[in-house]
Amino acid sequence: MDAVADRPDPPVREMEAASLSIDPALEPARPRTFIKSIVSGEVGVLVGQKVVVGGWVKTGREQGKGSFAFLELNDGSCLSNLQVIVDAAVYPLSELVPTGTSVLVEGELKKPPEGTKQRVELRVEKVLEIGPVDPAKYPLPKTRLTLEFLRDFMHLRARTNTISAIARIRDELAYATHTFFRQNGFRYIHTPIITTSDCEGAGEMFQVTTLFSDAEKLEKELQQNPPPSESDVEAAKLLVKEKGEVVSLLKSSKASKEEIVASVAELNKAKENASKLEERYNLKPGLPRKDDKIDYARDFFGRQAFLTVSGQLQVETYACALGNVYTFGPTFRAEHSHTSRHLAEFWMVEPEIAFANLEVLYFNNLDDMNYAENYVKFLCQWLLDNCREDMEFMVKNYDKTAIERLELVSSMPFERISYTKAVQLLVNVTDRKFENKVEWGIDLASEHERYLTEVIFKKPVIVYNYPKGIKAFYMRLNDDKKTVAAMDVLVPKVGELIGGSQREERLEILIKRIEDSGLPLEPYEWYLDLRRFGTVKHSGFGLGFERMLLFATGIDNIRDVIPFPRYPGRADL
Ligand code: 4AD
Ligand code: MG
Repeated sequence: MDAVADRPDPPVREMEAASLSIDPALEPARPRTFIKSIVSGEVGVLVGQKVVVGGWVKTGREQGKGSFAFLELNDGSCLSNLQVIVDAAVYPLSELVPTGTSVLVEGELKKPPEGTKQRVELRVEKVLEIGPVDPAKYPLPKTRLTLEFLRDFMHLRARTNTISAIARIRDELAYATHTFFRQNGFRYIHTPIITTSDCEGAGEMFQVTTLFSDAEKLEKELQQNPPPSESDVEAAKLLVKEKGEVVSLLKSSKASKEEIVASVAELNKAKENASKLEERYNLKPGLPRKDDKIDYARDFFGRQAFLTVSGQLQVETYACALGNVYTFGPTFRAEHSHTSRHLAEFWMVEPEIAFANLEVLYFNNLDDMNYAENYVKFLCQWLLDNCREDMEFMVKNYDKTAIERLELVSSMPFERISYTKAVQLLVNVTDRKFENKVEWGIDLASEHERYLTEVIFKKPVIVYNYPKGIKAFYMRLNDDKKTVAAMDVLVPKVGELIGGSQREERLEILIKRIEDSGLPLEPYEWYLDLRRFGTVKHSGFGLGFERMLLFATGIDNIRDVIPFPRYPGRADL
């Protein structure tokens, strides 16, 4: 007989309940159902079903002289709440109704009385769990709160309709990004966050160093355990000398082997002690210095290191091996800008395409501009297809034109104009006075970019071939020697959404561009190697992920479309 089959079943349920110390009477009979699947389900199928739901009370009110309570419950799976009804006999109602209370409840879905706006409601039979709230202390009362106010409550603001809707839209855009690139044969490459090269050459990098904490530790240690004095070191050196003389004396007097070995051991001990004392004597509080400069050879990586401003340079190494690649990660810029379009930490999507030009088709490969346009269109269409409820919320509360904008952008070709043409158009503007004067050679300011896309063309515009003086060293020099094969995608509401270029693949010209930009060559030797060995025409771009969210949602400030904004003076949590 089979011994295994003969054994009784292990008491799995009891064991689980016991180890988590759940009262079996309160253990949910079924897994938790997301409110999204209830509010979007077929009423006919739902009514009569027993479900477990968990969420946070948006609003709660006792009714019928305290005989029952209505709770508007939200679990973050969608914008809509589920109406939940609890009888006073089931649970003390005053504990359930405060806004912010969490509950896990089990009950039956019912059809509400005619004339109410809910399609289904939940009649609670059991309250399984509750996380209470003291309403006098809860910082997010029911009233409408400004986004600015909510920035002081980073840890709680995701409970609000607006921030949770943005979080869902953000998640959809991330998923759409991976979908788009996968469908187009791109590989996702994780580029480093800590880097030793400045991609944009703009000197706006945050430094990564342990020198300060090391210096602080040393300072403390030296206070607790003072270093030896000069005379201590001298005395130790003298002892080494004496011990050395003893060894020579024993050797010349042909002493026994044992005696010599013992004296050499003593000499070595004295030497070790002297060098330790000397080392400690030389310890100086503060940052390590050499030749009047900070000695980065003593830093964690043995050299200066920074948080990346862009994964582009590193992702190029993979484009020059795997072909079509992209990176999508956080990037960091120590710009002191307090605008509603800049963050110190933001996310960037950066595709890099081998055998691709900026504009014209290179053999049969799509070019950089086409990829950029197709990608933005794909994102817009994705939100129209997958994010209706949250987008309608944005239209109702923040930007009436948000959905129209997505429809327009997903269906109309983008305008393409050269920088020179853009400057001509802007110079001829008479109905508006710009704060920054327009002339060939300037970096277009946000007001110019927005005028082009919002007023002149009323749709996304790709501006290309910028003066080389205002763009990064890696962009390909055009035949006119004055401009580079750069492109920016400008969109209504935001201005610059994407910055990209064809990369300089010619070694000599790239070396000259690095030198002319005043950058040292040494840190870029590996980058130059890509041109020395099997160089290839290639192009890419970077889309500011939070700028895309501003564009999609119509939210005004970039600090509200990233879960944990970092900007000058603020890095909460
Ligand atoms: O134009 P940028 O500086 O381009 C690059 O970094 C290239 N290396 C990208 C590439 O070719 N792979 O930045 C790209 C985009 C901008 O168009 C903008 O949308 C966004 O990143 N961006 C910022 N977003 C928020 N806060 C900031 N401080 C930003 N700086 C740039
Ligand atoms: Mg740019």
